[in-house]
Amino acid sequence: MAVINKLSIHQFRNLTTQFISPCAGINLFISDNAQGKTNLIEVIYYLGHNRSFKTKILKEIINFEADSFQLGAEVDKNKIKLEKSKTITKISINQQKVGNSSKLSQLLPIQIITPDKGFVVNGIPKNKRSYLDWGVFHVKPKAAKTFKTYNKTLKNINILLAKKQADELDFWFLELAKSAAIINKNRVEYLQQLKKTMFSEKIKNLDKLIDSTDKFDYKFSSGWPKEVDKLDEQSIYQHLKKHKQHLLHTKYLNYGSHKANIFFTFGNRSECFFSRGEQKTLSIIFWLTQVVMLVDLGIKPIILIDDLSSELDDDKVNTILQHLQLLNVQTFMTDISHNLAIEQINPATAIFKINQGEITQQK
Ligand SMILES: Nc1ncnc2c1ncn2[C@@H]1O[C@H](COP(=O)(O)OP(=O)(O)OP(=O)(O)O)[C@@H](O)[C@H]1O
Ligand SMILES: [Mg+2]
Repeated sequence: MAVINKLSIHQFRNLTTQFISPCAGINLFISDNAQGKTNLIEVIYYLGHNRSFKTKILKEIINFEADSFQLGAEVDKNKIKLEKSKTITKISINQQKVGNSSKLSQLLPIQIITPDKGFVVNGIPKNKRSYLDWGVFHVKPKAAKTFKTYNKTLKNINILLAKKQADELDFWFLELAKSAAIINKNRVEYLQQLKKTMFSEKIKNLDKLIDSTDKFDYKFSSGWPKEVDKLDEQSIYQHLKKHKQHLLHTKYLNYGSHKANIFFTFGNRSECFFSRGEQKTLSIIFWLTQVVMLVDLGIKPIILIDDLSSELDDDKVNTILQHLQLLNVQTFMTDISHNLAIEQINPATAIFKINQGEITQQK
């Protein structure tokens, strides 16, 4: 179970020097516009991913007046430290240097809900894959290695296709087919398990979010053509071999596991017809179903929700709060004003105010 007991922030955007002790349940951060709510959410996300969900440019994140930022967190019994400047990246867990971010994401599994990252329902395929693979990684940590191999192999294939070097292609096609079959299997199995959770009693209380008898559902597309058996490496390999000439002509592989997608439906409507509120509500259902499934598997992610009540009416907000309370996962959420019935739902909520980048605990 992941719980952040202590959090220190130094020179991260407008959050200069802060030290807070969040509670293990719901932590609510309130402020007017442009005071630092999204920045605080970005801090926690950064600690779990070693990157931002808003930008790839480090300079944007370091406080205007500073040359570096430092973040620290005590997660369960582990101490995470992260320091970044133009020239230095230092990440340590319990004073041991760590080289890659996969250790961070295992210690700090984070599920984020923010308009800045975009919704999963009616979102871009890249976003849909990122939410899907987030779940796959946490259920099967070895999947990360397969993805790396797939991406490297794909890069090699694209280089060979661009240079029209046909002779080495078969070897790399087979390598790609091996990784692709595993990725496809992991994704299919994960989504099957997720669907079971979605139609189980465990998320029954989220039904209130949909005031309609329409069924919310989704279909997975592996990214491979229909005639390919996506779970069979030989079938994938033979397909690639057969279409070699065509691929040499197009100069890159424009289909495959890197183009997988999820298509959402609500009743007989497809996702492009959903309203903003419906997109947000159904995205939240999809996200929370993933959380319920992980909690069942003994992995307790930390939930980040930016601007909870925007686009949602009070009943929906309360339903979500009740659900989070039942799940008993640590949550960091922000809102413009404190008109949420949060304290009736969860008297143990910790409430913080942010004013011009200064966080103070109210309760
Ligand atoms: N590198 C930086 N250094 C200093 N300040 C920054 C930096 N990057 C962003 N800011 C400032 O941080 C302030 C707070 O931004 P943030 O997005 O957290 O606001 P918010 O409270 O989420 O507002 P809203 O309610 O509008 O979403 C902004 O005014 C922004 O200009
Ligand atoms: Mg914001």
